[in-house]
Amino acid sequence: MRPGTTSDTADGAAEVARELPASFRFGSATASYQIEGAVREDGRGPSIWDTFSHTPGRTRNGDTGDVACDHYHRWREDIGLMSDLGLDAYRLSIAWPRIQPDGRGRPEPRGLAFYDRLVDGLLSAGIDPVVTLYHWDLPQALEDRGGWTVRETAEAFGEYAGHVAAALGDRVSMWTTLNEPWCSAYLGYASGVHAPGRTEPEGALRAVHHLNLAHGLGVQAVRAELGEAARCSVTLNLHALLPADPSSAADRDAVRRLDALANRAFTGPMLDGAYPPDLLADTAEVTDWSFVRDGDTAVAHQRLDALGVNYYTTTTVRAWDGTTERSSEDGHAPSRHTPWVAAGDRVEFVAVPGQRTDMGWLVDPDGLRDLLLDVHRRYPELPLMVTENGAAFPDTVGPNGAVDDPDRLEYVRRHLGAVAEAIRAGADVRGYFLWSLLDNFEWSWGYDRRFGIVRVDYETLRRTAKSSARFYRDVIREHRAGR
Ligand code: NOJ
Repeated sequence: MRPGTTSDTADGAAEVARELPASFRFGSATASYQIEGAVREDGRGPSIWDTFSHTPGRTRNGDTGDVACDHYHRWREDIGLMSDLGLDAYRLSIAWPRIQPDGRGRPEPRGLAFYDRLVDGLLSAGIDPVVTLYHWDLPQALEDRGGWTVRETAEAFGEYAGHVAAALGDRVSMWTTLNEPWCSAYLGYASGVHAPGRTEPEGALRAVHHLNLAHGLGVQAVRAELGEAARCSVTLNLHALLPADPSSAADRDAVRRLDALANRAFTGPMLDGAYPPDLLADTAEVTDWSFVRDGDTAVAHQRLDALGVNYYTTTTVRAWDGTTERSSEDGHAPSRHTPWVAAGDRVEFVAVPGQRTDMGWLVDPDGLRDLLLDVHRRYPELPLMVTENGAAFPDTVGPNGAVDDPDRLEYVRRHLGAVAEAIRAGADVRGYFLWSLLDNFEWSWGYDRRFGIVRVDYETLRRTAKSSARFYRDVIREHRAGR
């Protein structure tokens, strides 16, 4: 029998489950714009992703999130799917334009009511809601006033966070301020492949800063509403960077440059309370960082209860001196997306042989283990959660509608194994959120890339669990039996 079909997945599942500690928690993750649809309902205002996806040429096949998985109307059914899987937790995001259609001012009660019902529904199914406040759907009205390049957006985010915290309160076990601010800043404002589609190197660095500030203001607002005990986190897509030749000082320096731009630009302020001096030096030709005001990094530096790590692949880089044609290989990664400024333009990306997902990303579970250990060594007191991990593969639907997805199943199995290895080696990893519960709107790729363990037929919106979902269910079941 092929790996991935039901009866032989149970053994593999038991093996993975046994390796993870009893306190380990299993979840899945989604994001508002990627699944909800109902973009004009209940007072929701337009977001930058509505504008961007409705602009010709911006997304694959002109796809938009207008309907997406119609989760806004099918959330009960989706909680049912989560119950079938036996999830301990569900990572969802709140659509800011449902709460403040114009980005500021009095919250829209119908928007809040949707998340209120959703959170109650999850709790009554025994599933812990982990809430991300910002997963990229900025109210268009705020973008019209400058978006993340201006300070007002960070201040508005603080107010918005306070409204949501007041409404959902202590029913939320963990608040996450931002999802992957790297994407918001660099993909949104440097390469322009994400909304709002701007290509302004300095703007991207301004966005980096205002996102850091927004994070701090968001944590402060949540704790002002709910008290100091409110549990807060942020989710970063820390880039696991490897030098092409570890013995080359130039390649190691290429890693340092990208690590500063992609990783330490966020962990610096948020976790250490300052921008790394090498980042400021590397980007000096682009900006003098004068938009950073006294006290800003102290605001960004809030006590956190956990760090969310999103991991999909590793990125191998080497120094580039500009004399040869630069390799376009970029894995997940910063090549096309970093502002091609001082730091980025001395680096090239190296194609490493190996299995790749439908996104072109190298499958490298050891990279997850090493990343978790590395973050743990740097921040030993900070509990970690894998807030996203998963794979896009083109699925084949069998004659009876069944989807056997052995590649995705194997990806999940190996990455859970890598998490277990990291824990055994000392990393404090508390849980794993599989991306994603459902096939959904994969940003500029539209519906052309499928990450779900549950298939969505976009004609009928019917949901069908794939064999990876059964595998994940078995892992959770086996783990629970041994708790
Ligand atoms: C990261 C993002 O948070 C999520 O929205 C996206 O769909 C996945 N990675 C896959 O690209």
